[in-house]
Amino acid sequence: MIPLSLYIHIPWCVRKCPYCDFNSHPLKNSLPEQHYIQALLQDISHDLPLVKNRTISSIFLGGGTPSLFSEESIFQLLAQLRLKIPFNHHLEITLETNPATAEISKFSGFYEAGINRLSLGVQSFNNQSLQQLQRVHHREHAIYAIESIKKVGFTNFNLDLMYGLPNQTLEMALEDLKTALHFHPPHLSWYQLTIEKNTYFDRYPPTLPDDELIWNIQIEGERLLNERKFEHYEISAFTKHRQYCKHNLNYWKFGDYLGIGAGAHSKITLAPNKILRLSKHKHPEFYLQSNNKIAERLEVSNEHLAFEFMLNALRLFQGFDKSLFFQRTGLELEIIENPLQQAIKKNWIIEKERRLIPTKLGLRWLNELLELFLA
Ligand SMILES: C[S@@+](CC[C@H](N)C(=O)[O-])C[C@H]1O[C@@H](n2cnc3c(N)ncnc32)[C@H](O)[C@@H]1O
Ligand code: SF4
Repeated sequence: MIPLSLYIHIPWCVRKCPYCDFNSHPLKNSLPEQHYIQALLQDISHDLPLVKNRTISSIFLGGGTPSLFSEESIFQLLAQLRLKIPFNHHLEITLETNPATAEISKFSGFYEAGINRLSLGVQSFNNQSLQQLQRVHHREHAIYAIESIKKVGFTNFNLDLMYGLPNQTLEMALEDLKTALHFHPPHLSWYQLTIEKNTYFDRYPPTLPDDELIWNIQIEGERLLNERKFEHYEISAFTKHRQYCKHNLNYWKFGDYLGIGAGAHSKITLAPNKILRLSKHKHPEFYLQSNNKIAERLEVSNEHLAFEFMLNALRLFQGFDKSLFFQRTGLELEIIENPLQQAIKKNWIIEKERRLIPTKLGLRWLNELLELFLA
């Protein structure tokens, strides 16, 4: 049985960050918490016939800023969801949070509500960088937030950091990593800042480090994390003591997921090589008002299925067991024999003990590597 995870999108933030192209909207009035929870429950009820007899193996409350919701609302939401679809024992339940004072005070309430993993959007510990990113928090808030996460008793948490920030030097980027490491996080997400279309930074581009500096930051940053015994297991994900993000691992291993909330996406296997993709109405107001939350519904064609599998699985540094391809797509591995042999010849993929593993070179040329699998 293919694992099934649940993604819950909360689309509001205190304000919109200039680099962000997620479906997040600055909060103008009060948060319609109760109304949104009812909409989420209506949303999942509608999808349930698609996932009959299946159980949820992980939950991720992402955004936006889900920690704007009260502890009581999160408790109520999880309790109501559990009545609709069975949760596996000991499932990972992550909530994304910003290091703002109002939210830090809710950490113990989130823990009581059943959240067992927090993902904290630190981005940087440098006040100058935080100001350039127009974040609402300062270094001191981020440090206080991490200390609070640990004090409350969360043993599993993630820190989001970005590098390649406006006017950032190599020393500044490494200092951010070292400060994070000081708190012994079990998981780090270290993203290169990208300028996304239709963002404020797209219209008013900041001065970013050049390619050579970015390259040095990557090399030195990875060296530092390696020295501190972090496993680099996906392009931007690092873990100590194998505390992987189970929810994201399920995406990368081409598992199934149900997405509820404004703009959320789902991938559901209905039968071998019959995969359905759904997306929900994107704008929060429209999502709240509409009876049918589904904006788009399409079946993935067989030609595209192999590419979609590779797009996810080749992000993993350990690659994947060859049997996973058939398990997840219902297709024989032979159908990608041609591009696979080309990739092996170019030393972009190696085959080792039944696993297909992207090489360092392959990861560096990932877009070109993936293009081979485009039908
Ligand atoms: C969905 S966001 C939400 C987390 C939370 N709202 C926050 O901003 O702190 C998840 C993470 O994606 C990363 N991210 C967002 N936009 C990015 C961009 N343009 N380039 C690189 N990373 C980005 C940030 O590290 C962010 O914490
Ligand atoms: S707080 Fe997070 S989700 Fe909200 S706008 Fe900023 S980066 Fe995007």
